[in-house]
Amino acid sequence: MTARVVLGVGAGIAAYKACELLRLLTESGHQVRVVPTPDALRFVGEVTWAALSGQPVTTDAWTGVAEVPHVRLGQSADLVVVAPATADLMARAAAGMAGDLLTATLLTARCPVLYAPAMHTEMWEHPATQANVALLRRRGAVVLPPATGRLTGRDSGAGRLPEPAAIFAAALSLLDRGPAAPDLAGRRVVVSAGGTREEIDPVRFIGNWSTGTQGYALARTAVARGAEVTVVAANVALPDPAGVKVTRVVSAREMRDAVLAAAGGADVVVMAAAVADYRPASRSPGKIKKDGRPPEPIALTENPDILAGLGSARNAQDRTPLQDPDAERGRLASSSSPRQVLVGFAAETDTSPAGARAKLARKGCDLLVVNPVGAGLGFGTPDNEAVVYGSDGTVTPIPRGPKEALADVVWDLVVTRLPQR
Ligand code: C5P
Repeated sequence: MTARVVLGVGAGIAAYKACELLRLLTESGHQVRVVPTPDALRFVGEVTWAALSGQPVTTDAWTGVAEVPHVRLGQSADLVVVAPATADLMARAAAGMAGDLLTATLLTARCPVLYAPAMHTEMWEHPATQANVALLRRRGAVVLPPATGRLTGRDSGAGRLPEPAAIFAAALSLLDRGPAAPDLAGRRVVVSAGGTREEIDPVRFIGNWSTGTQGYALARTAVARGAEVTVVAANVALPDPAGVKVTRVVSAREMRDAVLAAAGGADVVVMAAAVADYRPASRSPGKIKKDGRPPEPIALTENPDILAGLGSARNAQDRTPLQDPDAERGRLASSSSPRQVLVGFAAETDTSPAGARAKLARKGCDLLVVNPVGAGLGFGTPDNEAVVYGSDGTVTPIPRGPKEALADVVWDLVVTRLPQR
């Protein structure tokens, strides 16, 4: 589908990165009108935008008045992406000002609007900016949190523009979603992704084939629906999704610590990671050698079941608030809340409904997404299919399709289970 995209460019040095974003959008067949603010042209000139987009470039509402551009552009757009979104531009948008073509377009747009902020850390953290961002989000815009790293000059911190490819992926998620309201706005979501590794010795591990593709698709689609997303990624080699806090882990126990730390206060926890059920009982400090001897069996010990732990702590709080002196259970209790929605994934070679329901009950979660593995499905593939079992007895088959599409069905099911605000 060819979409009509308005690329708004604010007056920040990261404007040069928007050229790359523009190319990604046009090369994927979309029709892009670039609308810089007048000061943005100090960073990247009109000629560059016009040449890359193949469209005229204006910054004010006084050019081509016969076509009423200050209203028409916003009204006819399928998506408005603002990158970089400066503190000043977001302040003007939040205040409903319309002094240039970009702010006028933002005021008339009825389509999804995606802001990719870039500014110095102090400006991002200022209460005025935070209030403007919160207001824009409440009104339905998706505002990505900026990335953390090197800023202009010598300083580094939160305020970098996310990578153009990641903004592009977020833009595609919004286009896929269409004009639907961002129904996860104001919700905090934790997604685990990838596959854990359990060390046998300094060079070997027990692992699995999970690449994190499904977990990252869940993260991207949650961002497009307005959520604040933390991903706990085990050994994932994919680029970070835009606007997502990524915590990297290796083993199941590291994943448990990171998930519990992130889950406190979260509205939803989705365990899409493949977590090793067992680990070697001891890790050899040196590389295990053959030395002509018969192989030693590797003794295994059980890993904590993160999802089952969150499930039983949440369900215990549902009955009575848990005040447990035991450190582990106390940590679990503070990571869950009675109304937290818990989702598990189960990659199975045997997808029988009875087995799925038994696992759902064992894990104490609200939804269990059971997906078959093998025959070109499952690990590392772009497509997936599944049946989602609900603790309320619902069964939702999801036909084979892109992992993003599966993720959106999972979020649809989650949204109906979230407490109303
Ligand atoms: O038991 P099984 O591994 O099939 O369960 C799958 C679900 O449980 C997944 O959501 C997975 O992330 C989660 N899990 C977990 N901790 C483990 C094992 C699995 O949270 N130790």
